[in-house]
Amino acid sequence: MRFVIWFGALLPAWYALIRLSVEIQPEWMRESFIFLEQFIPFTLTKFPTDPLKFLTDLSGDSAFWLLALTLTFTPVRVFLKLNLIRYRRLAGLFSFFYALIHAMLFIGIDQEFHVGGVIHEVLTKPFIAFGMGAFVIMLTMALTSTKKLFGLFRTWHRMVYIAAVLIVVHYLMSHKTITWDHISMAGVLISLLVLRLIKR
Ligand code: HEM
Repeated sequence: MRFVIWFGALLPAWYALIRLSVEIQPEWMRESFIFLEQFIPFTLTKFPTDPLKFLTDLSGDSAFWLLALTLTFTPVRVFLKLNLIRYRRLAGLFSFFYALIHAMLFIGIDQEFHVGGVIHEVLTKPFIAFGMGAFVIMLTMALTSTKKLFGLFRTWHRMVYIAAVLIVVHYLMSHKTITWDHISMAGVLISLLVLRLIKR
């Protein structure tokens, strides 16, 4: 199971590397990717038209889905009586890993580490404020997720549900028009939160 999480969680990172290295790939590699493309619903052989947007969306989506996975372990234990809780920390840390890349792309590349610029964006764009709120919660959770500190900060880790709500709002607000795809993706996190409430 640990291997499955490592493998699945690192796929977006591999995908980003493949897309960004398209121009320098040897011919045999390019040909294998053209072959692979027949079986998967996304391209491997085109350099992204807007690399910053490509990486921001990919890291945001990866953090989102890995957070959803993290929230799945409790309902799976309660409703299916399958205890996989020991893998929750790993999935959570991978979610944070992509959230960190996502946040750093914004702070480092979009805002060029200009603190004033970041503060201005947080204060003037609500969707950035919601994302930042979720990121700060995830950061504190990652820092207190060691065996020693988790015992002390167990209650604080319930904030993951607040983070999930902030992320749903951030995600929906980050699009100019909301499609059924967006609603279904948000619906996954909301359903996991509702399952949690039912359990209480
Ligand atoms: C420092 C905090 C954050 C900032 C500044 C930020 C910023 C952004 C920006 C600029 C976009 C792109 C909007 C566009 O395409 O025009 C975006 C989209 C997104 N963000 Fe964040 N974000 C933050 C935190 C998070 C966190 C913590 C998550 C999830 C765990 C997340 C998940 C997403 C998702 C899923 C998208 C949509 C990607 C897509 O359309 O495919 N964000 N965010």
